[in-house]
Amino acid sequence: MRTPLVAGNWKMNGSRESIKELINGVVEGAKSLSGVEVAVCPPTIYIADVIAATDGSIVEVGSQDTCTATKGAFTGETSIDMVKDLSCKYAIIGHSERRTMYGETDEVVAEKFITVKNAGLIPVFCIGETLEEREAGITEEVCARQIDAVFTTSGDNAFADSVVAYEPVWAIGTGKTASPEQAQSVHAFIRQHLAKRNADNAEKVQILYGGSMNPANAKELMGQADIDGGLIGGASLKADDFMAVCQAGQ
Ligand code: PGA
Repeated sequence: MRTPLVAGNWKMNGSRESIKELINGVVEGAKSLSGVEVAVCPPTIYIADVIAATDGSIVEVGSQDTCTATKGAFTGETSIDMVKDLSCKYAIIGHSERRTMYGETDEVVAEKFITVKNAGLIPVFCIGETLEEREAGITEEVCARQIDAVFTTSGDNAFADSVVAYEPVWAIGTGKTASPEQAQSVHAFIRQHLAKRNADNAEKVQILYGGSMNPANAKELMGQADIDGGLIGGASLKADDFMAVCQAGQ
């Protein structure tokens, strides 16, 4: 049985003050949770503050991205070793905003994936189709291609101790959620695709749904057989909403 994971992706939001308030609310709310794992991914510059605030809590912390290089002349970048140094457990990789706005190809994301694995952190590997791709009927093909790039760099055992987040691009930040049936169908496909390389890893891997998940739709989405939690953007910016999603995952 897979334990659900609810992860908040705070993106580039908040101030030192507002983030302090948000994480304190999450840590407080998490005290009454059981049977669900919780993580937050703050803007890099606030990770240290958030780590300090989560001390002794079940709430884990992750970065929103990583550089593929581990050190050196890469102005503005943050290495996975630095993220690890702060005690993060997770690193989001390949979020659609990175893919579309910063030109990250499947190959770059796959390189980031292995960088995270080599550091001993857990990649939260994001995949998903655009609206045009869904309408063209190639959702599964796109997800398979994104996954296969990771198998190419990391081998058949890539998805041991990894998390996959299925995030249809058309549902991110739009208020349009995939229906539970639509999401379940892609999640089941993803698990089957992973199983072709390693059935045990495929059975264990948490596949999160992301894209306008909120307190109103979380329970039904996470009630699907292959949906093992959520990657939450907008609804993770208010502690009460985020905790309501976490509770729905219990
Ligand atoms: P959203 O974002 O919940 O605001 O749609 C999800 C994500 O981008 O991870």
